[in-house]
Amino acid sequence: MEKVGAPWAVREVPDPQVRPGGVVVDVVAVRVPSYTRQVLDGELGYDLPTPLVPGPTCVGRVRAVGEDVFAHRPGDVVLCNSLHSSGDAVGSPDEILIGWTGTGSARSARMQQVWRHGSFAERACYPASCLTTLPGGAEWSRPELLPFLASLAIADGGLRRGGLRGGQTVLVNGATGNLGGAGTLAALARGAVRVIVTGRRADALAALAALDPRVRPVPLSGDRASDTAAILEETDDGADLLLDVIAHTPTTDPTLACVDALRLRGTAVLVGGVRHDLALPYQRIQRRQLTVAGSFMFDSATALEVWQLVRSGAIDLDPVRAHVFDLDRFEAALDRAASLTGLEYAVLEP
Ligand SMILES: NC(=O)c1ccc[n+]([C@@H]2O[C@H](COP(=O)([O-])OP(=O)(O)OC[C@H]3O[C@@H](n4cnc5c(N)ncnc54)[C@H](OP(=O)(O)O)[C@@H]3O)[C@@H](O)[C@H]2O)c1
Repeated sequence: MEKVGAPWAVREVPDPQVRPGGVVVDVVAVRVPSYTRQVLDGELGYDLPTPLVPGPTCVGRVRAVGEDVFAHRPGDVVLCNSLHSSGDAVGSPDEILIGWTGTGSARSARMQQVWRHGSFAERACYPASCLTTLPGGAEWSRPELLPFLASLAIADGGLRRGGLRGGQTVLVNGATGNLGGAGTLAALARGAVRVIVTGRRADALAALAALDPRVRPVPLSGDRASDTAAILEETDDGADLLLDVIAHTPTTDPTLACVDALRLRGTAVLVGGVRHDLALPYQRIQRRQLTVAGSFMFDSATALEVWQLVRSGAIDLDPVRAHVFDLDRFEAALDRAASLTGLEYAVLEP
């Protein structure tokens, strides 16, 4: 990309060179999020430095490591988290998503100068701290499913943030999306007694319901009171934990309907793309002792844990379907990505 909003092109650029603290990977596979075209054309207002090789979190095979990198070896299969932090122990760190967005601060812009390019490429260079080695990843027979680990880690990070315990009732709002599908699989694997899944697309809700009898679909009508009532009908006395992974919605009613369906001492974790402010029910939060938390991306411990759950079979990726594209079909991948959510997703294998 030479400029945000200008036409992009697939072409040869110089190979990324390994540098101190860095790791160069051959990109194995990267998910193309459903909203990628809107990111690249500037519609979503992401902070993209140009010129740029864009691209989010990916799975790569280590090619070369900086001389001060000791945790990774050539040949390792790694999840490359695009989240990179300035790492301040005191004060508020800046966080960028390499190849994807920054925070708009001057320091974030400096970080993006150094760690700029992302994963829609044959090779990429990441800070070593962004990488999680996937033990046994090199022998995994379906590399096109590996990028789903990023979705699982983001969703599971949200469940962890909400303190999920086995036997709880989890409500996944926006479950028909990619993070929602991942959140449903993670909540099932973590022993939720019931997973209430909300969304608009009936086919995607049916696919989730087919995963396990513990999954209860609730179609979203858009009316706050009736959506809350429909959710409550599927619970004993409200949900313990809301994982809100919905995209930007015209109003906040879908999210608030779910907050209204939390039980005493329930927790709402906000992970999705809603850009409005939420008018939270002050009295209800106080009397019901509710917690509202945010969750952003994931850490290495979560990435490793979801990978081991996948390897153990506790998270079964069989229901996930990847539609694979190479770089020459980048435009087709963007189009396909826009029409796929939930347990189906578009993958670039450069
Ligand atoms: N916190 C983080 O770390 C993090 C990381 C990555 C992404 N995100 C954000 O998470 C959001 C979801 O990502 P994704 O990849 O799962 O997206 P996605 O696959 O496109 O899913 C979007 C979900 O939102 C629902 N939705 C969209 N418009 C709606 C509307 N007007 N009313 C009701 N529901 C609506 C969709 O429901 P239907 O399909 O049933 O219509 C679907 O369930 C994105 O907006 C992204 O910015 C957050």
